[in-house]
Amino acid sequence: MHIRVLGSAAGGGFPQWNCNCPNCSGIRQGTIKATPRTQSSITVSADGENWLLFNTSPDIRAQLESFTPLQPARSVRDTGISAIMLIDSQIDHSTGLLMLREGCPHTVYCTDMVFQDLSKGFPIFPMLEAWNGGLKRRPIPLYAEPFHLPEVPGLRLQAVSLSSKAPPYSPHRHDPHPGDNIGLLITDTNTGGKLFYAPGLGEIEEHLLPLIDQADCLLVDGTLWQDDELIELMGADKRGSDIGHLPQMGDPEQGIPGMIDFLSQYPDKERVLIHINNTNPILVEDSPERGVLDQAGIKVAYDGMDIHL
Ligand code: MLT
Ligand code: MN
Ligand code: ZN
Repeated sequence: MHIRVLGSAAGGGFPQWNCNCPNCSGIRQGTIKATPRTQSSITVSADGENWLLFNTSPDIRAQLESFTPLQPARSVRDTGISAIMLIDSQIDHSTGLLMLREGCPHTVYCTDMVFQDLSKGFPIFPMLEAWNGGLKRRPIPLYAEPFHLPEVPGLRLQAVSLSSKAPPYSPHRHDPHPGDNIGLLITDTNTGGKLFYAPGLGEIEEHLLPLIDQADCLLVDGTLWQDDELIELMGADKRGSDIGHLPQMGDPEQGIPGMIDFLSQYPDKERVLIHINNTNPILVEDSPERGVLDQAGIKVAYDGMDIHL
């Protein structure tokens, strides 16, 4: 299976348009060693022809232009996107559906909770009905039940619910439901290669471990370096844990493990962080924090990164 990282940043991208944090101002001024990144999305194919698009970011237009297999020219209007899957209903993962309106109808896999948010709080599904039938919604089974997509041959998927957060606009932002946010084990049925993909991994829960154990590659939440990063750098009032993201650094004094502690249990797997917030010091390639990841053998996803499993 071929996995292409289309966008590796969290909501806002890197740099974020209105942000003057050390990273965003540093990259604008050319004073840090870092690369700009678009917002969180990957695409996966087993046959190189039919692509499953995970998430539709506001940057999707540039992302599609950046990857030729998504632009075949078999007819006057064409796309390599055979189906779309949403892992949550956050703005950075769903707004791109509006940019894809010219290609409707699209087949969109999402959970009941995501469908509800995108039907009421941010009503993309009803809006797009006006474009050639809009979005054909397909449910995602939870609880690791294997399923196949007729649109994308050669892949088997298993989804699990994550304890994360519905988006700020969601009527149930503070009332979590299974399916607000999911992680997926994606298996190539020919090669046997397995990817665990969870850009919104807020908590390591017992029920995720059987899927994580099987995976060859873990492509997981890299949003924040530390839990109070947004408070420290932006004067925000939210911790990573309040917005559903597990930081890379835990709190050893309180015995709270972070993502690095967790990933260090799997030295034989390829481990890659994605959905990286623009404030995160790991974006600076020669930073001490990036050095810690290098030491631990953990990679930082970038736009255009390819993974083959
Ligand atoms: C998140 O996942 O928490 C988002 O990136 C927030 C956002 O899109 O503003
Ligand atoms: Mn996000
Ligand atoms: Zn910033």
